[in-house]
Amino acid sequence: MKDMTTSASITHMTLTLPEELRTREPLEIGGVVCDPPVILAPMAAVTNPPFRLICREMGAGMVVTEMVSARSLVNEPVKQRWRLDIREDEHPVCVQLFGGDPDEMARAAALVEDVGADMVDINMGCPMKKVVQSGYGAALLKDPGKVERMVKAMTDAVDIPVTVKMRAGWEDTNACDVARAVENGGGAAVTIHGRTRQDMFEGLPDLDIIATLKETVAIPVIGNGDVRDVQSAREMLMKTSCDAVMVARGCMGYPWIFRELAAAFSGRPIPGEPDIEERRRVMFLHLDLYMETYGLRKTMLEIRKHLLWYFKGTPGERELKRRFSSFVDVSSVRGAIEAAIEACLCTDEVVTFPRGLKKHPNRRQAEKKCA
Ligand SMILES: Cc1cc2nc3c(=O)[nH]c(=O)nc-3n(C[C@H](O)[C@H](O)[C@H](O)COP(=O)(O)O)c2cc1C
Repeated sequence: MKDMTTSASITHMTLTLPEELRTREPLEIGGVVCDPPVILAPMAAVTNPPFRLICREMGAGMVVTEMVSARSLVNEPVKQRWRLDIREDEHPVCVQLFGGDPDEMARAAALVEDVGADMVDINMGCPMKKVVQSGYGAALLKDPGKVERMVKAMTDAVDIPVTVKMRAGWEDTNACDVARAVENGGGAAVTIHGRTRQDMFEGLPDLDIIATLKETVAIPVIGNGDVRDVQSAREMLMKTSCDAVMVARGCMGYPWIFRELAAAFSGRPIPGEPDIEERRRVMFLHLDLYMETYGLRKTMLEIRKHLLWYFKGTPGERELKRRFSSFVDVSSVRGAIEAAIEACLCTDEVVTFPRGLKKHPNRRQAEKKCA
């Protein structure tokens, strides 16, 4: 059998975190323990229950749902209930809401609390035109006064912690004003993606602004942006003194990043990249969880993108695409996974499995939606 060990996995095994980071008290956000301080980011059309369960199994200290519209929840609580599908095994779990009206957000937060979520988060980072034109997502960054009113309305309405995930600013950086507003409103933590709305996903995240924000507020600060291995997590933690890191693209098709980061925080040796049996196990598990959650029709459509991410850039990617039209039931998908694995094992090419995605999966589409 072909040796799939990559030089990357060897590097990762030798890196760890400084002792002061490994031995500090577990992070608590409004009484909810997040251990290790490594969080699965909210990602629309990605962080649904199957993927969240896998990331928790891998060692994520907390998981966040896809963003959910507060208005839809409030207006159609029964019809939209499926969006708040939370499993026993995934706690602590945070539900992210988006919206622009403090009262509506407060009512939606109460529904989130009712379904047993541990935390509720407000989306202040989504750059999409449709969202910001309605005054939601990153548009809220333009009005710290409204941010404070919204957080206050929500903290008054629920007992679970209310948090905010934001970008560094709209065009210019005003993260500290917004974070102060979050703190004044009673928010329990703030996550900052170190890019402005204008930056989208381009350039490097601004770690200085995360560091400044950490000095500005007393509530926990979660650093987000380009964390994709122990080294980048270490850089984020050391340069910003943030209390936790949040991972998005780095875990798409590579949930094993969480077992690496969990090991780094506990002082255990960092596991190498997964072997082929482990990859097969997780892909089969992902498929089974999808079937259990969504049934046949939706699974056959949606599992494709997840499987492609697991094989991105390998000969398995081509093989999978070739077989998409044959996806009719679990055994046909399992067969395609086996064929894709076989394509990786039987090639003369050097096969390097991806460590997450580097770009937004629908970058062009996303950019168009933001222009
Ligand atoms: C496919 C995708 C969907 C996303 N959906 C959301 C979302 O629903 N809510 C949110 O706050 N951020 C969302 N984001 C932004 C991420 O949570 C994160 O802030 C951003 O990708 C930077 O982190 P990274 O460098 O680890 O990817 C999304 C990102 C991606 C790639």
